[in-house]
Amino acid sequence: MKIFAINGSPRKNGKTQWALEQTLEALKTVDSSIETELISLAGKKISGCISCGKCRNTFGCSIKDDFIEIQEKLKCPDMVGLIAGSPVYMGSMTSQMKAFWDRSVLFRRNGFFFKNKLGAALTIGGSRNGGQDLTLQNIHAAMMIHDMILLGDGYGTAHFGGAGWANVPGGMEEDATSLETFQNLGKRMAEVAHLIKS
Ligand SMILES: Cc1cc2nc3c(=O)[nH]c(=O)nc-3n(C[C@H](O)[C@H](O)[C@H](O)COP(=O)(O)O)c2cc1C
Repeated sequence: MKIFAINGSPRKNGKTQWALEQTLEALKTVDSSIETELISLAGKKISGCISCGKCRNTFGCSIKDDFIEIQEKLKCPDMVGLIAGSPVYMGSMTSQMKAFWDRSVLFRRNGFFFKNKLGAALTIGGSRNGGQDLTLQNIHAAMMIHDMILLGDGYGTAHFGGAGWANVPGGMEEDATSLETFQNLGKRMAEVAHLIKS
């Protein structure tokens, strides 16, 4: 079983990266045999879909950029789930994360590859109420369009996914409320991965 995490922040070592690391670490406490891979979109050139239609006929894209490397990784037959993490930008996901989802349409058009894969999201906002829930819903919408099975952050917190406040006094890394949602998300992903594989 393999679970991928995608970091949609343009900052490689920012808060979203840290949050996803905490999520995957917690996932491993439930089952250390689950393989994980965290892919950062920082520094990658991924443009938006140009709707050329090429992927309607073949599993391929006419845009030759860094999405191809990610596309090849995600074709993994052992993949059971995907955790998408994005900072809140203007009340929604980053343009990097949106470009990733738009380009992922080739998985949908070629046999719904993500169908029945587990999908979960986390987000970090600079403000406490800066659009975290809305950003999670936007990511969830893309996952639903792939017919993925959506998960929240599970027992203990059990809301819509990981939700962090970057500028909390004392720092997000010390904020038990943010951290708990990231950890519960990872644990929930491992728990349900087992349920669907047993
Ligand atoms: C262009 C831009 C827009 C932003 N918009 C919001 C916003 O709408 N709400 C919010 O709470 N934070 C907003 N932020 C703050 C980021 O969400 C916050 O700094 C986050 O921690 C960045 O994640 P990173 O460290 O992984 O890059 C914005 C930041 C930038 C650069």
